[in-house]
Amino acid sequence: MNVLVIGNGGREHAVVQALKKSPIVNKIYSMKGNAGIGELAELVNVDYCDIQAAADWVDAHSDVEYTVVTPDDPLALGLVDELECRGHRAFGPRKNAAIIEASKAFSKELMKKYDIPTAKYETFSDYESAKAYVETCDIPVVLKADGLALGKGVLICKTREEALDGVKEMMLDKKFGTAGNKIVVEEFLEGPEVSALAFTDGKTIVPMITSCDHKRVYDNDEGLNTGGMGTFAPAPFYGEKTQREVMEKIMIPTVNAMNAEGRTFKGVLYFGLMKTKDGMKVIEYNSRFGDPETQVILPMLKTDLMEIFQAVTDERLADMQVEWEDGACVCVVLASGGYPTAYQKGKEMTFGDLDDDVILCHAGTKRVDGKLLTDGGRVLGVCAKGATIEQARQKAYANVEKISFDGMHYRKDIGMKYRDIEKE
Ligand code: AMP
Ligand code: GLY
Repeated sequence: MNVLVIGNGGREHAVVQALKKSPIVNKIYSMKGNAGIGELAELVNVDYCDIQAAADWVDAHSDVEYTVVTPDDPLALGLVDELECRGHRAFGPRKNAAIIEASKAFSKELMKKYDIPTAKYETFSDYESAKAYVETCDIPVVLKADGLALGKGVLICKTREEALDGVKEMMLDKKFGTAGNKIVVEEFLEGPEVSALAFTDGKTIVPMITSCDHKRVYDNDEGLNTGGMGTFAPAPFYGEKTQREVMEKIMIPTVNAMNAEGRTFKGVLYFGLMKTKDGMKVIEYNSRFGDPETQVILPMLKTDLMEIFQAVTDERLADMQVEWEDGACVCVVLASGGYPTAYQKGKEMTFGDLDDDVILCHAGTKRVDGKLLTDGGRVLGVCAKGATIEQARQKAYANVEKISFDGMHYRKDIGMKYRDIEKE
């Protein structure tokens, strides 16, 4: 079958690489893609946040039998609904379910109503009440803009002054645009963080291997938040016991809650979790594969991804046996000079002799006149597998050193986090 993949990041390159291995996938199209995806798929230059234009393209290409929607924006805008309305098959939640990521106020309400463990919180739509609350609440405190803000709409405030400034920035100065019209003020939690993703067709939940992201730009979690500077899988502190706890207290209740609300979720549900002294708690939900998590998860998947996608669409995930490789995978993100604030583009990339089994996931890259150029903040995910996280880490970094472009920067400590936490 011919498949269209929507999106142009490292995550989408990882999805395309996995689909390429499927014997049932013939041709792959990618809207909008990047240089790496362009080696495996035909690139389509349509703005996928223009839902009508994207669906029109699918209408006009009758050879496309299935569309995979991975980025949050087109999901929140209802691309899957639009494609289904027009009689096409697509992977990803509908708009009414994608809200679990698109509105933090919605997801917090859902957790409260269905008793799913999360940080205590209050929601505010007017500045004066938010300010009054923050004047007396416990510190540190966490402020979250309600809407999608590219993972940047969260402020961890260590002092009351910071918290009051934060409320003002979000609600009056509109630092995150309309995403800050409503804010969630929540209790500060502590503990290791893990991304637990699962496939679900609304009936069955199939967890993927877990992974850990590194959101801050510099080593030792310093500097600004980014889209993610690297990942490793699996999380060493997330064994069978924690998996059971998360399935019983978080995953099943969430899928059931969405069904009870008439918002059946079909696709990839991403649980951003924290292992606190009071058990596992939800930090956030995403309605899609994570990036760069997907770059370490999919290389470990033994089962045909296309078969899984179709089983989700047809609600027969219960019949699938999804298998994962043993061992570990590490991804180091190479970023452009200036990222995560204003960054450079159009720098030529050079590659030494890379190991055959290193996996490159292109994010912001493009090919111009045969040259490979940088074209985004996060440029490349350099991924390697190994028997242990340490082995995978060494292999990934040995290959990182053979790649360069002007202004390139990356974290040197991906895979070292949580080493001292008790394994499970
Ligand atoms: P989010 O966009 O909700 O994932 O938040 C971004 C990051 O902020 C998370 O990955 C956490 O590291 C941190 N964070 C969010 N909520 C809390 C919380 N309640 N307590 C402590 N840290 C938090
Ligand atoms: N890596 C975090 C995310 O995809 O939102």
